[in-house]
Amino acid sequence: MQQNVMSQNNSEKPKVLIAYFSWSGNTKQIAEQIKEVTGGDLFEIEAVKPYSSNYNTCVDEAKKEKENNARPAIKGKVNNIDDYDYIFIGYPNWWGTMPMPVFTFLGSYDLKGKTLLPFYTHGGGGVQQCYKDFVKQTTGSNVKEGFIANGSSVGRAKPHVEKWIKDQTNITAAK
Ligand SMILES: Cc1cc2nc3c(=O)[nH]c(=O)nc-3n(C[C@H](O)[C@H](O)[C@H](O)COP(=O)(O)O)c2cc1C
Repeated sequence: MQQNVMSQNNSEKPKVLIAYFSWSGNTKQIAEQIKEVTGGDLFEIEAVKPYSSNYNTCVDEAKKEKENNARPAIKGKVNNIDDYDYIFIGYPNWWGTMPMPVFTFLGSYDLKGKTLLPFYTHGGGGVQQCYKDFVKQTTGSNVKEGFIANGSSVGRAKPHVEKWIKDQTNITAAK
């Protein structure tokens, strides 16, 4: 009996970038879950001048930067950003919006016409301006629906991450 064993989809896999900022590791966990699903490349957005490892001091540093609308210098650069079909960009809610290094990151590339998928974690405040400010900074991009998780629930987020990715991109995890 003949069997079709060549049922593989030969169409090229979309190229995925996952850029994220994370101070205490929650957003990083979501970024890693996205990598597991999509096989994408991870890029950590890091300020050249690190934030204090003390929570209260970091909160103060971040507050000052937000008040000054600062664009702190960031490390490294994504090579060939134009090659990516989907760019996931993740960050924690800091003072109701994106950490300022994420503003720097978004301002460092021409993302017009790119498909962007923001994701964010928070400490109870929810999305606040995290999505709106992202959209404002990425005029001309195709911004998909975001993914949000409370920082305390990131360990249980994987099935939700998978569903979000499938709904927004049709990418499913290789089984
Ligand atoms: C500087 C700073 C500011 C924060 N501001 C907020 C806020 O305005 N609203 C909120 O819900 N959580 C706030 N949080 C909590 C973080 O959003 C939350 O813990 C997040 O999951 C941390 O992600 P990370 O582990 O990737 O850094 C803040 C945390 C820090 C360090």
